[in-house]
Amino acid sequence: MSEQEKTFTLTNDQTGESCKLAVRDGTVGPSVIDIRNLYAETGHFTFDPSFTATGSCKSRITYIDGDEGILMHRGYMIEELVDKSNFLEVSYLLLYGNLPDKKQYDEFNHNITYHTMVHEQVHHFFRGFRRDAHPMAIMCGAVGGLSAFYHDSLDIWDEKQREISAHRLIAKMGTLAAMAYKYAVGQPFVYPDNSLDYASNFLKMCFSVPAEKYEVNPVLARAMDKIFILHMDHEQNASTSTVRLAGSSQANPFACIASGIACLWGPSHGGANQAVLEMLDEIGSKDRIPEFLERAKDKDDPFRLMGFGHRVYKNFDPRANVLKKYADEVLDELGINDPQLELAMELERIALEDEYFIERKLFPNVDFYSGIILKAMGFPVSMFTVLFALARTVGWVSQWKEMIEEPSLRIGRPRQLYVGSAQRDYVPMNKR
Ligand code: CMC
Repeated sequence: MSEQEKTFTLTNDQTGESCKLAVRDGTVGPSVIDIRNLYAETGHFTFDPSFTATGSCKSRITYIDGDEGILMHRGYMIEELVDKSNFLEVSYLLLYGNLPDKKQYDEFNHNITYHTMVHEQVHHFFRGFRRDAHPMAIMCGAVGGLSAFYHDSLDIWDEKQREISAHRLIAKMGTLAAMAYKYAVGQPFVYPDNSLDYASNFLKMCFSVPAEKYEVNPVLARAMDKIFILHMDHEQNASTSTVRLAGSSQANPFACIASGIACLWGPSHGGANQAVLEMLDEIGSKDRIPEFLERAKDKDDPFRLMGFGHRVYKNFDPRANVLKKYADEVLDELGINDPQLELAMELERIALEDEYFIERKLFPNVDFYSGIILKAMGFPVSMFTVLFALARTVGWVSQWKEMIEEPSLRIGRPRQLYVGSAQRDYVPMNKR
């Protein structure tokens, strides 16, 4: 440790022994205490279940300030990216670190659209699923299964292969997500149309049928594109940490992204947008809101207000603020007058005035509004998390690529505080 380095001294109250730990600064945000030598120097591990106080990696991709409601990708504010950019340009930014010039953008656009088709055998793979399978179950299987189709891009130590896998994943997620939807509704799979932008192509693959002409509604395509940007990355959240942990064992990128999809599926994470609409169904009418608010506050009742609160944002979720605007645009365009939407708005109003929610700084998160827009666009509730996974794939592959390119890559391996039995002798069954 050099003299100029900032340090943090930890003292053992019992023995008086102390240990100096390096303090490392990021570009912005709180500094961290480097505890990598802690066990060697003190014989202790740290205890941080759920990793609320642990930085698991260095990253240059996304910065969040939960108190201020700031989300930045590569230094650009999310509000500005949503306003001025598009899904592919932000994908380039996340993957490569800077905004592309025109030539780089055209080349990237070409590379992504070139990979939108999936191997024809993947269609047969889909047909093995039950028609009522949850599309996230299909996505876990189908994306993991891609490693069985694209053997030529599995060498994670080859930079070119890493790049091709990243392009394939971003390109094919839209196609696979649309196929999961088509499979559930019993309509034929629609092949990608590479003359369209990513969001328009995705809407066409979901909502067109071979028997009829389909025009992409530009307002919906714009909103879809914005929803994708808003969900692309969120630094070391549960699914991204899962992808990194899986990748740290040198598993192939398709397997790693499949692990991220599995983690995202849970209702505390990406499954929350589905859970919001299910909750609204359960509440049913405005007069029952107070009853459900009481349940949300009751510690003995597992019910929570889905779409409210966030592990990191403790004042507001910047993504939710942006999305509310597009929710209004889509609902206006479609002329939707949905009682469930009115219920959602009333729930939002009452919760935001409630002491319990004010005190705990609980406010609507991105999932509260995304569920509402996606429903208006015609997506079934079961597809909501799939759309989240589609967008988040860009963040996952960018984080995975960043990790693999880190020279100090080692397999991730958290420790534990063991509280089970100490050593005891085996007792034969007839003596227990
Ligand atoms: N409804 C009722 N009470 C809540 C809620 C909620 N949705 N969220 C938090 N609380 C309470 C919690 O019980 C605790 O109360 P107390 O201090 O009295 O014990 C207090 O607020 C602090 O919450 P916490 O448990 O420390 O919050 P957390 O950081 O562990 O959990 C969360 C964050 C997102 C899992 C949680 O807020 C939640 O379950 N929300 C509903 C699910 C949801 O909308 N998830 C989507 C998150 S955004 C998408 C993403 O980025 O993945």
